[in-house]
Amino acid sequence: MTARSWRRWLKRAPLFVVLSLLATACAKDAPQDALDPAGPIARQADNLFRPVFWIAVVIFVLVEGLVILVAVKFRQRREDQPEPAQIHGNNRLEFAWTLAPALLLLGIAIPTVITIQDLAAPPADDALMVEVTGKQWWWQYEYLDEKIVTANELVIPVDREVFLNLESADVIHSFWVPRLAGKQDVVPGRTNTMRLIAEEPNQTYLGQCAEFCAISHANMRLRVRTLTAADFERWVAEQKAPAAESADGSLEARGRELFMANACIQCHSTDVGVASLGPNLAHLADRGTFAGSIFELDEENLLKWVQDAPSQKPMSPPTIDPSAPTTLINPGNKGMPSFLNILSEDEVRAIVAYLLSLK
Ligand code: CUA
Repeated sequence: MTARSWRRWLKRAPLFVVLSLLATACAKDAPQDALDPAGPIARQADNLFRPVFWIAVVIFVLVEGLVILVAVKFRQRREDQPEPAQIHGNNRLEFAWTLAPALLLLGIAIPTVITIQDLAAPPADDALMVEVTGKQWWWQYEYLDEKIVTANELVIPVDREVFLNLESADVIHSFWVPRLAGKQDVVPGRTNTMRLIAEEPNQTYLGQCAEFCAISHANMRLRVRTLTAADFERWVAEQKAPAAESADGSLEARGRELFMANACIQCHSTDVGVASLGPNLAHLADRGTFAGSIFELDEENLLKWVQDAPSQKPMSPPTIDPSAPTTLINPGNKGMPSFLNILSEDEVRAIVAYLLSLK
């Protein structure tokens, strides 16, 4: 590089500094910030990450600094400059730069292995056991001792270990709630585990699927809602109660009839504790979001969803035979079918009223 082109690059340096400062500013108030742990399990990983990061920064600055220094100091200054002295080998130096990194890596490896062992510990005696199943494109939670099945929003008590058995119904997903724990792959045919502990009640921690799992991977989000131990007991009691009954002749009752008479019931159970092909809806209205936690759960969004879900979220769903509205064509396909030309607007309205009554 000539002196002039060096100067040209140096003039641009402030721009690069400003751009990198701007980029770091983006992280303010980030709800999925893995560097802002909200519980002891996440903090354990963070405590490992931070010292390793700063060691890496020191080494980066040292190595890159020396590279730049040498490149500038020993550059060719004149066309006719003679070849510099050629040096081969320096035992003392080579020994030093082999031993130093080896010791450093050993120093990093020991706490890393201890942390990995710690995080992989078996469940505590009083742990809340939940089986998480990744499905294209939503999450099912089965509370094993409580016999509750919910979807997308994992409700947990604070200050108690939550032990997750992670399973997949189809392809590889990855369960990730950055502020509560690390990331864990969810693999068909095997059970991975994860522990998380939250500390602050009445919080919502956001998460998402972190392994590409086809068309709606980006729409496979999740939430973790934290409650005090007493509130959690109340929540469990509510979830274990049967789904709400609707009064005879009400819009909700008509919606329930339509729900049972159409394909809805083929995929969605409204019985407590029953896992179904689609999310269990026994207490749907307790959740704040639906469809892989991408929509707020309200009447307007549910109307659009029940009428024509594939227009709301990319899916490859089964279709419904218009002459037999309980029959799914290609039932192995993933996602919610469209009910356009199957249900009228009034019928959709009744079904949504029924769904919103499922508190
Ligand atoms: Cu599930 Cu990506």
